[in-house]
Amino acid sequence: MAKYTLTVNGGSKEVDAAADMPLLWVIRDLLGMKGTKFGCGQSLCGACTVHLDGVAIRSCSIPISEVGDGQITTIEGLSENGDHPVQKAWIQHIVPQCGYCQSGQIMNAASLLNSNPNPTDEEIEQGMEGNLCRCGTYNRIKEAIVTASKSL
Ligand code: FES
Ligand code: FES
Repeated sequence: MAKYTLTVNGGSKEVDAAADMPLLWVIRDLLGMKGTKFGCGQSLCGACTVHLDGVAIRSCSIPISEVGDGQITTIEGLSENGDHPVQKAWIQHIVPQCGYCQSGQIMNAASLLNSNPNPTDEEIEQGMEGNLCRCGTYNRIKEAIVTASKSL
């Protein structure tokens, strides 16, 4: 066990953890933020997506010892009041079904639009293809990303 100081959603958080503890465990179990989900634990589904310095990463597959002083953003910190353009577009298009995959979808979409504010349909499909949705909300996700891109 060692002490780590992380920057999460703009605040400094100190945790005691084993060096190989996945960031996802830290976020959910040590910091109590449950919006980020566990799906596969193997970088295959995207349910655990958070941002590290504004870029989407799979928090199940990065150990706390590799996070360093990067800025971590979870779904709880994406916006002050749930009003990030992606979140607003998600509401407008009533995207979620069961909801389990959706925080990962939103975080990945926000990262995609950070790097490419005006993606083509193909770029949206490519950018989102690693985020799985067992409920099949893919069409609404795509429509919402187009809406969000127009409001950026
Ligand atoms: S839980 Fe991390 S990619 Fe599936
Ligand atoms: S909304 Fe149910 S898994 Fe995506």
